[in-house]
Amino acid sequence: MPLTHTRDLFAKALKGKYALGAFNVNNMELIQAIIEACEEEKAPVMLQISKGARQYAHPVYLKKLIEAAVSLSTIPIAVHLDHGDSFELCKQCIDEGFTSVMIDASHEPFDKNVEICREVVEYAHKHNCVVEGELGHLVGAQFDEGEEGGNYSVGGHYTHPVEAVDFVRKTGVDSLAIAIGNSHGAYKFKGDQRLDIERLKNIKKALMDADLGDYPLVLHGASSVPAHIVDEINKYGGKMGADTAGVAESDIEEARRTGVTKVNIDTDLRLAMTAAIRKVFAEKPAEFDPRKYLGPARVATKELVRHKLRNVLCSAGHAFD
Ligand code: G3H
Ligand code: 13P
Ligand code: ZN
Repeated sequence: MPLTHTRDLFAKALKGKYALGAFNVNNMELIQAIIEACEEEKAPVMLQISKGARQYAHPVYLKKLIEAAVSLSTIPIAVHLDHGDSFELCKQCIDEGFTSVMIDASHEPFDKNVEICREVVEYAHKHNCVVEGELGHLVGAQFDEGEEGGNYSVGGHYTHPVEAVDFVRKTGVDSLAIAIGNSHGAYKFKGDQRLDIERLKNIKKALMDADLGDYPLVLHGASSVPAHIVDEINKYGGKMGADTAGVAESDIEEARRTGVTKVNIDTDLRLAMTAAIRKVFAEKPAEFDPRKYLGPARVATKELVRHKLRNVLCSAGHAFD
């Protein structure tokens, strides 16, 4: 079974009102864990590869591992470049057969962001690839403009609904990563901060009102940083700070119901692997066969992915819709 196109996965997810898990991969155990969970749960999936993952594992290794995953499974699998930072990197991935690429020029002023995205879109669309752009800054919820932002101040960190429409129209991007209080990593918030779901609703509505249809939105930084996994890491010798914080799963679910179609998860996979490896190292310090700790790490990651598919993304059972 070949790769399934990102465009088809999006269309089905929008219709079925579930979110696609977009999981970052950079080694064999991660790919196996994700694909085994998705296969067992009958969930479509996006495997995403960052520039750093390509540097770590080499693009050819990743390509061959994904080819193996595709040939050994029956579920739809798309392959996506995560946070592409240049036209050249996006072009390489498009030429290698990725079904979608992200061009992240969100740190640039609006017009420059548009110009960079436009160039990638032009190349991608000629080569049967779709593009994710990003508007807004993933700075975390401590920058929530809330009421003070009034009708969402232009020039703030969060994505502005009117600008989102303008951006999609001007760039032609096929999906849009938005900033609504989400951020990367294991230390996302201070205290009990939440995603700005009202703003998400307004972005979705603005796109709909502008005749852009049920437009696919993407939530980066969507790990929930489960406290029990952080505790496990620290129990077995880790030193993660007391201020770890992730997005509440209830917020992800609400974001899904409100119109987020792709949910990016990396940190939670890293945490699950680390906790399992630390446990083996602590309980069996004489062990030195990598299979004896990478195996449990793979199982722990698989169970974490299964939980997301079933209980958060609701993509379980939708592989063959
Ligand atoms: O958002 C970034 C992803 O978690 C990828 O991280 O650049 O360390 O591979 P990375
Ligand atoms: P997390 O750090 O929350 O897992 O986000 C990952 C991500 O957005 C990858 O693009
Ligand atoms: Zn991201």
